[in-house]
Amino acid sequence: MKIAIPKEIREHETRVAASPQMIKKLVDMGADVAIQAGAGAGSAMTDAELREAGATVTDGVEATLKGADLVLKVARPMAKDEGTDETALLSDGSMLIGLLAPLQHKEQVAGYAAKNITAFAMELVPRISRAQSMDALSSQSNLAGYKAVLDAASHFGKVMPMMMTAAGTIAPAKCLVLGAGVAGLQAIATAKRLGAVVSAFDVRPVVKEQVESLGAKFVEVESEETEDAETAGGYAKEMSEDYQRRQGELIHETLKSQDIAICTALIPGRAAPTLITEAMVKDMKPGSVIVDLATETGGNCELSEHAKVVEKHDVTIVGYANVPGRVAVDASALYARNLLNFLAPMIDAESKSFKIDWDDEVIAGACVTRDGKIVHPMLTEGGS
Ligand code: NAI
Repeated sequence: MKIAIPKEIREHETRVAASPQMIKKLVDMGADVAIQAGAGAGSAMTDAELREAGATVTDGVEATLKGADLVLKVARPMAKDEGTDETALLSDGSMLIGLLAPLQHKEQVAGYAAKNITAFAMELVPRISRAQSMDALSSQSNLAGYKAVLDAASHFGKVMPMMMTAAGTIAPAKCLVLGAGVAGLQAIATAKRLGAVVSAFDVRPVVKEQVESLGAKFVEVESEETEDAETAGGYAKEMSEDYQRRQGELIHETLKSQDIAICTALIPGRAAPTLITEAMVKDMKPGSVIVDLATETGGNCELSEHAKVVEKHDVTIVGYANVPGRVAVDASALYARNLLNFLAPMIDAESKSFKIDWDDEVIAGACVTRDGKIVHPMLTEGGS
């Protein structure tokens, strides 16, 4: 069982698919772990630490990946048209686990199948109770929600909490969180802890209770449509034009009184919904801040720019790329734990080899290619 962990080379990717604790556990299970020198640098893991945990530290990506039975990645491998062709370096018939973004990059998935690679996409791990410890979307979104609020605070020219000082009283900042999934709920909790007055909006009415239990106000569009706003998997659906118009009016009105907007709304496999238009930005108070976590898939604010901080109509719009990577030490540690929890059931302790139980719904649910074919129903049938 040779497991290889290359250094992530995508722009803005500071994380690594490993931690010393995880390497130690894999070595104890009988794996030979090779990690590329410098792979942990962005996450404050030194080569010495990784070596001490039991890994062989190798120079260069070719040497690291050579002969690997399994490659662990954070971001999807680089493809031929993106510079270094990492996909070509994967051994035929090997296994690959990472955040592969398969729905957005179906042609690359076909490439894994052509190389007979058994590929698992961590974003497709079913969101059932048993798999919570493997849920990389949650572990990373939670950190992104936290960091988004700190980014907002650092770009905001005022303070967050109410302060009663001898020189006068400062009113607390008002913060609206758009999308109250994992990232949004953590953003609410973080903004509350910093002393802001927080409200939140989501199309799924089931989150109302969660928002209120964190001490925030739930901003709600009165519509029968919301009863059907959630897929069986707990994700949001795309809403009708009428709903979107009413939602737009409500968000527009609410934003006029806010100082900070944190955007976290996503629809799996689709472009992020546009929730803040230019007209809404124009009507926000000067000095307000918008942090858009959705810029990777087009953004929730139509003026946000991916990987940039821009100033529009006296509002600062923060569109940092890879926000979990901005807290890479914790993001890598939690992601490595997710990987270990996903991987451990595939390792047979006695024979010290990979033994995959294809009847396991978590393993099968995350698998995108197997036996030279694309196998995931979301890719073969467009189902969800
Ligand atoms: P996500 O990252 O796909 O989306 C973020 C939020 O944006 C969601 O709450 C969604 O409803 C909201 N949204 C989408 N379109 C919107 C719009 N037009 N306006 C406003 N809000 C909009 O979602 P995330 O954070 O991955 O959570 C999805 C679901 O998965 C939730 O129901 C969550 O409770 C559930 N979940 C279950 C887990 C488990 O049981 N293991 C673990 C984590 C999450």
